[in-house]
Amino acid sequence: MSDIIEKLSQNRDLSDDEFRTLITSDDPILAKELSAHADAVRRENYGTAVFLRALIEMSNCCVNNCLYCGIRRGNIGLERYRLSPEDILMCCEVAYQLGLRTFVLQGGDDATFTDSYMCALIAKIRTRFPDCAITLSIGERSYESYKRMRDAGADRYLLRHEAADEELYSRLHPSEMSLENRKNCLRSLKKLGYQTGAGFMVGAPFQTADHLIADLRFLQEIQPEMIGIGPFIPHRSTVFANENKGSLALTLKMIGIIRLMFPKALIPATTALASSDPSGRELGLKTGANVVMPNVSPLSVRKQYDLYDNKLSSGEEASEGLESLYKKITEAGYTVSQERGDALKDPEIEAVRFKRNPYV
Ligand code: 5AD
Repeated sequence: MSDIIEKLSQNRDLSDDEFRTLITSDDPILAKELSAHADAVRRENYGTAVFLRALIEMSNCCVNNCLYCGIRRGNIGLERYRLSPEDILMCCEVAYQLGLRTFVLQGGDDATFTDSYMCALIAKIRTRFPDCAITLSIGERSYESYKRMRDAGADRYLLRHEAADEELYSRLHPSEMSLENRKNCLRSLKKLGYQTGAGFMVGAPFQTADHLIADLRFLQEIQPEMIGIGPFIPHRSTVFANENKGSLALTLKMIGIIRLMFPKALIPATTALASSDPSGRELGLKTGANVVMPNVSPLSVRKQYDLYDNKLSSGEEASEGLESLYKKITEAGYTVSQERGDALKDPEIEAVRFKRNPYV
């Protein structure tokens, strides 16, 4: 095995220079080795299990204006929708019948989702589906708000940091948004005991290897239980309409690196990865990913959750294609898990936490 991958596996870390070498290398043999090693580490920790999450896209209304995103508030051509709490409960019911045990309530940063609205919804889902995990993904909120929703029964929270480097963040977001606030949201979520998900896009406009290294360093600070990354894919009604999409090879490489750095992390083979290449999902799974998130939103709204062009919302990415998804997962050499799929605790990270504060 090459020294650099040996070292990354041993230390779960590299110097910036070494990361740069690995990220910028276009040697296919190195990429293959990385992938094989990431797969071995995933098997050591999670066996062949692939965890499924029912993705419910609650609303495409968003107060934010992220330059790359198709549901940004400035996209006036998009028809907006918001599922009612009854619709959402119905989606949970459908997902439960299909055997899914995690519901991901994802949406734009929608002002309708006040704390009382969310807490009432979470409490209902909690009561009706006591054996399921509730994951939220509804953007930046205050510590108090995250706390209320946690107390109401939410278990997990996904909030991609998007770009940990200040300069890159400011080129991808309007000036009213702040990287420090986003990072602080993730720190709050961790503190409140959410299984926390961070992440970023690969191949975003202006992104360099050093920006990706900054993302890895930020992940080391946060130690998220879940890490979601996917290729950037342009959306026709954004300023980045004519930019190149992120490469499959680089996205896979970042998934492999992240698996070696965070052996216990839950890493999805994202919809963006599946959308960007017909084998994207399976290649992601073979490079360390261990989660897939089929869409269970009502068919009538699927096309409107339009983050980027040609986003898959049917076939294996959706509840109707579940059988076919199972088949593909099995054919790739993995096993569909029927469990909630909580993150395993990482003994090394726990030891550091204990040293800092043995009383929690
Ligand atoms: N390409 C790929 N991913 C995107 N996202 C938003 N826009 C795009 C795009 N154009 C991702 C962001 C966000 C998540 C909801 O979707 O990382 O966190």
